Amino acid sequence: MKVTIIGLGYVGITTAAGLAEIGHNVIGYDIDSNKVESLKKGISPIYEPGLDELLKKNLKKKKLGFTTSPEEAIHHGEIIFICTGTPSREDGSADLTQVEGAAKTVARHINGYKLIVEKSTVPVKTAQWIERTMKLYLKKKVDFEVASNPEFLKEGDAIRDFLKPDRIVIGVGSKRAERLLKELYKPIRSPIVVTDINTAEIIKHASNAFLATKISFINMISDLCEATGADVELVAKAMGMDKRIGKEFLRAGIGYGGSCFPKDVKALYHVGTQYGLNFELLKNVHEINEARIDVLMKHLKNALWNLKDKNIAIWGLSFKPNTDDIREAPSLKVIKRILNEGGKLTLFDPVAMENMKKVYPEKYPEITYAKDMYEAVKDKEALVILTEWDIFKEACLSKVKELMLTPIIVDGRNIYKPKKVRKMGFEYYPMGRP
Ligand code: UGA
Repeated sequence: MKVTIIGLGYVGITTAAGLAEIGHNVIGYDIDSNKVESLKKGISPIYEPGLDELLKKNLKKKKLGFTTSPEEAIHHGEIIFICTGTPSREDGSADLTQVEGAAKTVARHINGYKLIVEKSTVPVKTAQWIERTMKLYLKKKVDFEVASNPEFLKEGDAIRDFLKPDRIVIGVGSKRAERLLKELYKPIRSPIVVTDINTAEIIKHASNAFLATKISFINMISDLCEATGADVELVAKAMGMDKRIGKEFLRAGIGYGGSCFPKDVKALYHVGTQYGLNFELLKNVHEINEARIDVLMKHLKNALWNLKDKNIAIWGLSFKPNTDDIREAPSLKVIKRILNEGGKLTLFDPVAMENMKKVYPEKYPEITYAKDMYEAVKDKEALVILTEWDIFKEACLSKVKELMLTPIIVDGRNIYKPKKVRKMGFEYYPMGRP
């Protein structure tokens, strides 16, 4: 099938590569010519394991192409996915101007029936706005429909999530749209849930908000564990063994970040309150998450007393492992707080340092970037762990101890066994563990 992707961000690129991989003929469109030129060479502007290989393979097979021409893009696909960004406005609501812009682009260049599918995470009833925008800006009488097909891709695991999803959700308003989307996903053997459009839009927002709620819930319990000398890891383990609860997304720590959960929790709260409903639960989820930084800072100060002129290493800058994405990463908040208190920082991350250098350039006072994780800890008075990269889990801790000035670890992700590291002579501060 011929498919067009509008918006080549994280979701757009992965969707384009994934649909080409399952045999479709895909064109990705974006106004950013640098991005398009790089993608034409099979180089993704985002770090995602396996993505470059998939791009190169399908570019070579001519299953995939990229363009900055809206005309070429819109003429190409019978199915057009809108994958533009939906950032937060200051009040927490979703800014949908890019989605509107994409709808206008389709209206301007439409040349025959199109199924316009929203894939970006959007508030319920966005499809109705897309339809209205199309009708307002259409210059000729052309048949079109709008559908919703939310993505459930996790950064770092996006390709597997695309090719083997737990479920595919399609929100449609007609049998024709249902048929087209079912045909599109035929090569993927996952259950398909067919709903109306409003329901599909809510499924996506609710799924992300629920996962964020699980994280904030366990972080709330983590604080209780800390206050009482209990161990949140064991609480989560035993809770998760109950199939009704499930073990996923019960890892306590520094909290959730990234381009999705923080934005979607706020946006769904906003949608609920717009309808006059009590969505305070989501406000609490957000507030608990914000307070994780206070907990980590409390540990750091318990260890170092004053932070002024203290030399501190940070391992892990990305919001989670296997990505270079630092959007809404806890590291940004922790760095700011330590700098505000006069601390000196040496940062290390296996892939996210280039992105951090865009925020704190190499010559930024009081910040140094290390070449590797061991150089980062040399002569430091504390090591703060903010991302659970495998290399940190497997680090040679005796070497770390030898290199550090004072062997103190403040672990925002609970990656070590407290007894073991303490036995080695570290002062160890995990989250929610005795
Ligand atoms: C999330 C969802 O998991 C995807 O299903 C969804 O498609 C995507 O958002 C999106 O809306 O595009 P993502 O943000 O890539 O995916 O990453 P997650 O693996 O969900 O992690 C989010 C944050 O939660 C990370 O900062 C992670 O460290 C944190 N987290 C996760 C915890 O603190 N504890 C946990 O137990 C799990």
